[in-house]
Amino acid sequence: MKRETKSPEIAIELSGISKKLGGLPVHHNLNLKVERGKTTVVVGASGSGKSVMLKYILGFMLPDEGEVKVYGKSILGLSETEMKKVRARYGVVFQGAALFDSLSVFDNVALPLVEKTKKTKAEIEDQVMHYLSEMRIADARHKMPAELSGGMQRRVALARALQLSPEIVLFDEPTTGLDPETSENIYDLFIETQQRLQYTALIVSHDIPRIFRVGDWIAVLNGGKIESVIAPRQAMKKASGWLRKMLDV
Ligand SMILES: Nc1ncnc2c1ncn2[C@@H]1O[C@H](COP(=O)(O)OP(=O)(O)OP(=O)(O)O)[C@@H](O)[C@H]1O
Ligand SMILES: [Mg+2]
Repeated sequence: MKRETKSPEIAIELSGISKKLGGLPVHHNLNLKVERGKTTVVVGASGSGKSVMLKYILGFMLPDEGEVKVYGKSILGLSETEMKKVRARYGVVFQGAALFDSLSVFDNVALPLVEKTKKTKAEIEDQVMHYLSEMRIADARHKMPAELSGGMQRRVALARALQLSPEIVLFDEPTTGLDPETSENIYDLFIETQQRLQYTALIVSHDIPRIFRVGDWIAVLNGGKIESVIAPRQAMKKASGWLRKMLDV
């Protein structure tokens, strides 16, 4: 039987966030709720503060004001040890793909397992190959990142981010630099993978309108705050008008 929930469960909540960097305001009273098990896409122009927002969630940067909660608990003021435990629940796909140039595809994906688990070599081999197959890059296991296309690099980055079964996956501009067709393929992969693994996804991007179809919710970051949170279909309708103009893309 499906569990009845009166209100959606919130995985991440940012409230009343304000931040200045280099004397300039980046966020001003920013509020955002990220629903558990859903994909929230935050769209905003370049320099609008998308990466900085992710840095609060990762505990790499503190807001000047406001609150950041993960599963209802504040993560502000946590010790580095406590913050590491929070980060252990995340998978991160960084802007670009941020693969280790000197490691093969297999070793890049295996790294979290080697560093953070006591799995045997055979178990690691099994798991990594399973994910590489799911991402349709098993044949590239021996390749080095420089030998891969941009799309393949993103597949490797996603496979790596998923190794420790994260509850939350954060994506920073996951398709920057990819051509439209490759971006669409990556979005198909994101949708498939999220449906299969049911993690909470938070994606920041300025790839509008393409990125819209990936989200359950589209949050528009403009003027330092989340201006609106709308359904993808609604965002699609507006994409040719004010939204594109506002985002200056
Ligand atoms: N460490 C920092 N010191 C000073 N200013 C910073 C720092 N990090 C970011 N900023 C500024 O904060 C603003 C928001 O930066 P952020 O990287 O979050 O933008 P973004 O929305 O991710 O842009 P893009 O789409 O280009 O990645 C920018 O004006 C940037 O110059
Ligand atoms: Mg950024």
